Amino acid sequence: MSLQSIFGLEGRTALVTGSSRGIGAAIAKGLADAGASVIVHGQSKDATAATCDAISATGGTAFSIGADLAGPNAGSHLIAQALHFTGRLDILVINASAQINATLDDLTSEDLELQLAVNLRSTLAMLQAVLPKMAAQKWGRVVSIGSINQSRPKSIVTAYAATKAAQHNIIQSQARDFAKHNVLLNTLAPGLIDTDRNAERKQADPEAWQRYAAGLNWMGREGTAEEMVGAALFLASDACSFMTGETVVLSGGY
Ligand SMILES: NC(=O)c1ccc[n+]([C@@H]2O[C@H](COP(=O)([O-])OP(=O)(O)OC[C@H]3O[C@@H](n4cnc5c(N)ncnc54)[C@H](OP(=O)(O)O)[C@@H]3O)[C@@H](O)[C@H]2O)c1
Repeated sequence: MSLQSIFGLEGRTALVTGSSRGIGAAIAKGLADAGASVIVHGQSKDATAATCDAISATGGTAFSIGADLAGPNAGSHLIAQALHFTGRLDILVINASAQINATLDDLTSEDLELQLAVNLRSTLAMLQAVLPKMAAQKWGRVVSIGSINQSRPKSIVTAYAATKAAQHNIIQSQARDFAKHNVLLNTLAPGLIDTDRNAERKQADPEAWQRYAAGLNWMGREGTAEEMVGAALFLASDACSFMTGETVVLSGGY
């Protein structure tokens, strides 16, 4: 058995939601490097240009979709658009999410609804649309990007953390039903990662941020988006053949 035969993704097609930047962009580039044709997604098509260009520059194949996942039919529509490009989907990385930091006291119904819509409703709709197709082709991998907050929640992200826990619960229930079709669903749960998501807090007080990151995990630092790629590639490939419904935690030790 060669490494290429278990980690290689030649002939595979992948949709990575929220791959215009951050963790999603790194994973999209990683899957393309492994040989997959990758559908890059962001809220607008323009936002996907940098990731698509980076994939094309290294000889990979990238398609671009712009879509806001907050709308009622956004998830199923995104899968239909992706299938229009590639005809089939082998890998779905559910990475886009809405995160609004608020304690229970501060949480507004608008902020709750946005997080429920993007993080849960679109996830359910994408899975409804894609899992029967993956089952029919007898191969599918779903990588759901969760969070350390799904199992170790903090009150400042009360609603967001709850959506991440629920997202993994959905992954587990579907993993059970689709395992017999070689459709495997797992969660990759990052800890604190240096992306745009945290840029505002970091820039507001760099020293306080540094202290926070230093005390947060055993490694005493933030992770990088690129450090998520190896585990994502494992979960998206034939290397992952006897694991489903599980979580891989990449948190620097917590
Ligand atoms: N960074 C962390 O510390 C951390 C920790 C744990 C878990 N995570 C999880 O890791 C994933 C990626 O996080 P990140 O830090 O890389 O995020 P990011 O840098 O904030 O990027 C977010 C991505 O999601 C897309 N997106 C946001 N809202 C959307 C919407 N309503 N509809 C469609 N797309 C939308 C963005 O598209 P545009 O570019 O078009 O806006 C962008 O591609 C998320 O699921 C997040 O919850 C992150």
